[in-house]
Amino acid sequence: MFEPEKFIERQVDEVKETIGDEKAVIATSGGVDSTVCAVLTYRAIGDRAVIVFIDDGLMREGEAEQVTNFFKALNMNTRLVDAATEFFDALKGITEPEEKRKAFRNTFYSVLGRVVREENAKYLVQGTIAADILETVKGIKTQHNILEQIGIDPESYGLTIVEPLREIYKHEVREVARSVDLPAEFSERPPFPGPGLATRTLGEVTPERVEIERRATTIVEEETSDIESFQSMAVLMNDKATGIREGKRAYGYIIVVRLVKSKDAITAEAVNVPWEVLKRIDKRITTEIPEVVHVLYSLTDKPPATIEFQ
Ligand code: XMP
Repeated sequence: MFEPEKFIERQVDEVKETIGDEKAVIATSGGVDSTVCAVLTYRAIGDRAVIVFIDDGLMREGEAEQVTNFFKALNMNTRLVDAATEFFDALKGITEPEEKRKAFRNTFYSVLGRVVREENAKYLVQGTIAADILETVKGIKTQHNILEQIGIDPESYGLTIVEPLREIYKHEVREVARSVDLPAEFSERPPFPGPGLATRTLGEVTPERVEIERRATTIVEEETSDIESFQSMAVLMNDKATGIREGKRAYGYIIVVRLVKSKDAITAEAVNVPWEVLKRIDKRITTEIPEVVHVLYSLTDKPPATIEFQ
């Protein structure tokens, strides 16, 4: 049986030993994995841990402020890096999912490499978990935070990486999170992919399209907050559909709503969402986001679908 207290003790010791008297940057997104890493590293090396949130322009509404304010309130050494333009430049014109991940990964690690140098840090601590490695090795998706397994040497970005959670799964990470007293908004936070809304914006990832995706995401999350799920999302399709606006033909965007139940993200089941909730989501999206003329619900389990569309 997994024992969170023992795990914490072991990992804090190990991080302390690895990092010694050096400084470390912890790349955090507010997700449970990276937040737990930040807390463990802070316990291990105190102020020599620099918590870095990269604003890639692909996060949900208000996420950058919410996450950095949380760490600041705990008096942790916290830095918000605005790199949205760099990410959008790197993603320009790319539509193929794995190419997007590659562009995202490259930008992510170059920005982090720069921050690590600026901070005079020797290590980068990141919240890779066992499922990330497994899915990448199986050839399903190259998770953005996996380097070695796809043949990239972290040193090429000037980074030495420490991954305290690489042997445990999401439900175990949550046990650790509760054990270190993280508030529920972090310990129970639904997973959100590293490349953020880029994963849910099919086709080209432009600031305008991501903004539509972000607004739809807020509506879906608000309307489904009472429904039990592993993840709840809006996805912006690449195609457009014919719709009607002000009595005239209008080609508009299509949004897919997807809710899944899962334990470890390896398999998942589409949630049976009440029709009234779906209709409320549909009404809000097509009213509050006039560029969208069609809303769909995704029925397929994983496998054969994956949780994200790309
Ligand atoms: P899939 O879509 O492969 O997702 O069924 C499994 C879990 O992983 C998340 N996901 C990602 N997380 N970087 C991440 O950090 C990624 O590139 C990525 N792609 C998918 C997804 O949200 C789900 O929880």
